[in-house]
Amino acid sequence: MSETIHIFDTTLRDGEQSPGCSMNAEEKLRVALALEKLGVDVIEAGFPVASPDDFASVEQIATEIQGSRIAGLARALEKDIEAAARAIAPAGERGRIHTFIATSPIHMEAKLRMAPDEVVARAVQAVTLARSLAPEVEFSAEDAGRSEIDFLCRIVEATIDAGATIINIPDTVGYMTPDEFGGRIRTLIERVPNSDQAIFSVHCHNDLGLAVANSLAAVENGARQVECTINGLGERAGNAALEEIVMILRTRRDRYRNLDTAIDCTRIVPTSKLVSQITGSPVQANKSIVGANAFAHESGIHQDGMLKHHKTYEIMTPESVGWSTNRMVLGKHSGRAALSARYAELGLELDREQLNTLFARFKVLADKKKEIFDEDLLALVSDDRDTQDERISLVGLHVASGTRDTPVAVVELAIDGEIHKASSEGDGPVDAAFKAIKSLVEPNGKLLLYQVNAITSGTDAQGDVTVRLQNGNRVVNGQGASTDIVVASAKALIAALNKLPETHAREVHAQYSGI
Ligand code: KIV
Ligand code: ZN
Repeated sequence: MSETIHIFDTTLRDGEQSPGCSMNAEEKLRVALALEKLGVDVIEAGFPVASPDDFASVEQIATEIQGSRIAGLARALEKDIEAAARAIAPAGERGRIHTFIATSPIHMEAKLRMAPDEVVARAVQAVTLARSLAPEVEFSAEDAGRSEIDFLCRIVEATIDAGATIINIPDTVGYMTPDEFGGRIRTLIERVPNSDQAIFSVHCHNDLGLAVANSLAAVENGARQVECTINGLGERAGNAALEEIVMILRTRRDRYRNLDTAIDCTRIVPTSKLVSQITGSPVQANKSIVGANAFAHESGIHQDGMLKHHKTYEIMTPESVGWSTNRMVLGKHSGRAALSARYAELGLELDREQLNTLFARFKVLADKKKEIFDEDLLALVSDDRDTQDERISLVGLHVASGTRDTPVAVVELAIDGEIHKASSEGDGPVDAAFKAIKSLVEPNGKLLLYQVNAITSGTDAQGDVTVRLQNGNRVVNGQGASTDIVVASAKALIAALNKLPETHAREVHAQYSGI
């Protein structure tokens, strides 16, 4: 009899906690729609009490998504649980409150300043309240990896009694090794008397690079829900990567004979690209499954083997995880129908108006670039949505640079509907453009990261630029794409500036010298 491993995706909650990966409501909805198509069982849509925006976004996702369960996170506090209940209400029977409290000695003593008995009482109270407000309750023992096993057994038993039907065991700081963590799950299932009334879940962080291995060890020992994120995004070193968990179970059927997920694996790569694009967090080239080199065969010996039989060096096919090979290459002669069909394959159903807008942008790009790839198409969508309704947008950019002259940039921005201009010199054309843009806007943040990737190959490839800015506690990412790398950089900086709260035009704009 085959058993299902439930996939609980927390890209929109833990994933969003990666530096600079915060998303707006519209972006979160796009990710949620992609996750639904991917076939995830549960989407953790956010932390409703955190802010009115978080609340509204969870509520919107709970309204729009029909095919996955929707979870809202809540600390073991009345106000959190009530906010989560209201936000997930539109999901009806598919709504879940995910409430948590820390159970390790260090967290209870130093962070909560609560005695273990008080922690158990609070957890029971939280689950009881949540159960009265939502159809399904998940309880997490934060830092379970470093919690005392007797105490863990006690709180798990008490919260199941109170009505939790999913018990999540997080390795919050990624401290466990696979044998330890698997053993911990087995012990809990064996020792907690009512363990048969709950599904055991795991949530592993990747601080020592063991998140996926620990999750699998847990599955081998009875866990039936795995919490994970697309591209392994998440706090610090991230969470277990969804694509890796799913493909290990699929590829090693010989070992995990009766275990599988409901994931449509051919949607993995499009979803990964979408999340990377929206969060501005590039996927490293050698990342398993979804990295650009994951199926590239470089050496002669490997290429020779592949030509003789693809299984010589390939344990799964690129198509099986959604790397498209149909390669009906789009170019300037392609029509609306082909464009619309390609977007549908990428998981984006466009209405007539969206198609018209994107088709116009596609034609402009196709005039500059012979072949248009999926990455280009996704960048067009992001670019289009990024600039709609934004307070700051790029109206014009002129740069002059060369081996003899000091690079100079002149920029024209629309800020809150008014045109502002500035010029600046710089160490290079990008530096000059950044200085000119920053001179027009405040606060303009500290630059933490500037990264350029070629979206596809060839010298006419679009440059995909990520900019990370920090202002106080807030870290934001911005992305921009263009066949002109300076324009892509300026767009990325402006996208990031738009995410900083309360950015506005600077009072004094004396910098423009009209070069
Ligand atoms: O890492 C963690 O412990 C968490 C919990 C809130 C589940 O993210
Ligand atoms: Zn976490």
